[in-house]
Amino acid sequence: MSNNESWGTRVGLILAMAGNAVGLGNFLRFPVQAIQNGGGAFIIPYLVCFLLMGIPLLWIEWSMGRFGGNRGHHSTPFILDALDKRPFWKYIGVFGIFTNLAVAAYYCYIESWTMAYVYHSATGTFDGLSQSQVAAFFGNYVDVFQSTTGIPFEAIIFFVICLALNTFILSRGLHGVERAAKIGMPLLILFGFILAFRGLTLGNSGASAEHPTASAIDGLNFLWTPQFDSLSNPKVWLAAAGQIFFTLSVGMGSIQCYASYLKTKDDIALNAASAGFMNEFVEVVLGSSIVIPIAAGYLGLDWVKENAGFGMAFQTMPYLFEKWGPFLSTIAGVMWFGLLFFAGITSSLAMGTPWMGFMQDEFGWSREKGAISFGTIVLILGLPTVIFFSQGVFDEYDYWAGTVSLVVFALVETILFSWIFGMDKGWKEINMGGDIQVPVFYKFVIKYITPVLLLFVFLGSLLTPIGNNWQEAFSQLFSGNGWTLDNGSIVKQITSAGLREQIATATDPATIEALKDKLLYISGARILLLSVFTGIGILVYIAHKRRLKTGGVA
Ligand code: ALA
Repeated sequence: MSNNESWGTRVGLILAMAGNAVGLGNFLRFPVQAIQNGGGAFIIPYLVCFLLMGIPLLWIEWSMGRFGGNRGHHSTPFILDALDKRPFWKYIGVFGIFTNLAVAAYYCYIESWTMAYVYHSATGTFDGLSQSQVAAFFGNYVDVFQSTTGIPFEAIIFFVICLALNTFILSRGLHGVERAAKIGMPLLILFGFILAFRGLTLGNSGASAEHPTASAIDGLNFLWTPQFDSLSNPKVWLAAAGQIFFTLSVGMGSIQCYASYLKTKDDIALNAASAGFMNEFVEVVLGSSIVIPIAAGYLGLDWVKENAGFGMAFQTMPYLFEKWGPFLSTIAGVMWFGLLFFAGITSSLAMGTPWMGFMQDEFGWSREKGAISFGTIVLILGLPTVIFFSQGVFDEYDYWAGTVSLVVFALVETILFSWIFGMDKGWKEINMGGDIQVPVFYKFVIKYITPVLLLFVFLGSLLTPIGNNWQEAFSQLFSGNGWTLDNGSIVKQITSAGLREQIATATDPATIEALKDKLLYISGARILLLSVFTGIGILVYIAHKRRLKTGGVA
């Protein structure tokens, strides 16, 4: 990217933005969240969060990005600074570079699994393997130093190849990103339709002597029978909100960066909504019609409920595809993991752009240098997730960068946009050049409802009560027994309270040792993340000083 780049075509822009949103989250995270939160009980809060939080945040981030970009800024520190001159905003903007680097570190690792699984599906590695052998393959794959998958250090090799590919495409600038989206998105949708067709038509035909009650329809019914009682359950709302953040890539900083390459009068109102709805279509229609019905169709809904997690996509799908015969299973495996790969790479490319934009704007770097440095940082930050995967480093990154940071940044930027920059100016920005007029109801939503919802989500995550059981927690509170925090609340996570409790109560010395090791690795991961955050903060400070010296506005 360079200061004077802009999107080649409108189709390219929408596909790139939709590609940013459509990602592994749509096919891996969404089905798991839906299953774990009661299927039909999840869908309504999810859709409400999309309409009242997701779409407003898209409009906010697109307009902030275009506003900043037209003033020469392509990453959030100085985009936020363009909205309000108080010095701390640019440091808040650090989130919008940090989150991308930290999420990319573990996200590109999953993306590299999908590459490896395309390779193994195409070369017939899974042919004839039993369910437990396919599952064991995954365990071996992520156990880097003991790996028996055929290629030594395979997980590291694919991770490096994946980063090299990301770096190469990013070094071609917006043109490269746009091309990747124009190739990746249509293929992803085509593969998705073919696999979803199978999921929707499998019916009871996959039932076997071992799983006589297996039925794809059960899986679909579980997801699509709305349960209104969940509306009063904050646990489900928090999960739904978290999914909306992750899937739309809001609160990350990448949308602002992409939007900063728009021209002054380019439409935002319709483009942002189109990209958002395209993401929802892929998530809600395609994302829910593949893994869940196919797994429920062969193994039964109960199995799916018990095993919801990454396991379904990587440990089970190759085995289920085998049931379609050697030829079709190869095709299905290549399509499924190929689809995941395209979903992943169009998102990870977006994660590279804020860092590149920042270094180009502030330090005059070439885009090649920006791309190579992104690849290098993600390699350094990502290797601990690869090597210490089973020690919890991956989850630690996902928690702090992929969950907490998104909410914090989204909350703060919404306040900045709606209340400090001001809703009247903000509304003009959103509608300027628009091919549609955003319904005026959204002016109210963006000013009042979105920030209040975000505040609830933040407080809910900060102070999650024990067992995530809100009814019980409130009745305890009102009967004077206080509020007991869950180990999953941000407050308790900061001190790793859950892990420390496990150490204190464990009796077996080997278990204690393993848990202590885990604590060590997790602390190491936090130090790394904090160093990256601080490092970017220092760069912002230097950039600010340089601007003052050269007479630039900062
Ligand atoms: N929005 C991207 C995803 O859903 C990060 O995976």
